[in-house]
Amino acid sequence: MITVTETIEKIERLDKKRAKEHVGKEILRSSITLKVFRANRAVGEAARYDTFEVPVQRSTTVLDALLWAKQNTDHSIGIRYSCRMASCGSCGMKINGIPRLACYTKMSELEGSTITCEPLANFPHLRDLVTDFSQFFAHHKDMKPYIQNSDADLDASQITKLSEYLQMPEDVDRFLQFSYCIKCGLCYSACPTVAMDIKFPGPQALGQAYRYFADSRDTAPKERLDLVDEKHGIFRCHFAGSCSTVCPKGVDPALGIQLLRGHLLGFSKNEKKVAELKDRSKA
Ligand code: SF4
Ligand code: FES
Repeated sequence: MITVTETIEKIERLDKKRAKEHVGKEILRSSITLKVFRANRAVGEAARYDTFEVPVQRSTTVLDALLWAKQNTDHSIGIRYSCRMASCGSCGMKINGIPRLACYTKMSELEGSTITCEPLANFPHLRDLVTDFSQFFAHHKDMKPYIQNSDADLDASQITKLSEYLQMPEDVDRFLQFSYCIKCGLCYSACPTVAMDIKFPGPQALGQAYRYFADSRDTAPKERLDLVDEKHGIFRCHFAGSCSTVCPKGVDPALGIQLLRGHLLGFSKNEKKVAELKDRSKA
């Protein structure tokens, strides 16, 4: 299992690799054409693409360019964003066909003189670049993304041995990378199984199921496995791996899914063995 230090090193390596690739391939321009998907579903508007000429500098991000177009050319462009630093997970969209965070994608790292911005696939479309995350968050909530501990003493008035959740660093190593998820939905948008089955929880929710399953403070591992082991559940994953490729935070949901599957198969085998032994004892 990957340690905390290894996880931090991995993220640093990813950032350095990104920066290195970026420097080598940096495309400097003074302006760019933004091609933006437009449609307001609430009033049944037909989809179209609008183009905007936007001045850019070396550090201009796609979000900066969209906000420039919104401020100076067309106030009605629908965009969702908040932190502008890859933390809130609000600004996900397809940029030149790939799910990315608009605030974390610099113009200088994109090829071509026209940059196309479209809403994320696999989410119901609302307006322009804004999609509906209700189903995505419902899948996340279904996984009970919080510690369940039947032994915990929740009486805040007294400190007992059970009112603190003690963990060793190696316990944290088991789930740390999965806790970096910002719920941006890029993995969900890239998942071919979600595209075919909206009841499939998707890589984000399954990654979080593993995150809490692997947490030594949690006492409901069996219930968590039961949650994902159903008709539209974890075994629908084809292991395309696109979820992990597009994740901007270095989370590897595909790995979480495989680890969870391993536990599930282990459980099933054990249960099968117990059932066989019971059958033999009856004979
Ligand atoms: S796993 Fe990565 S891509 Fe998926 S929601 Fe979390 S941060 Fe976004
Ligand atoms: S604006 Fe928060 S992640 Fe991009």
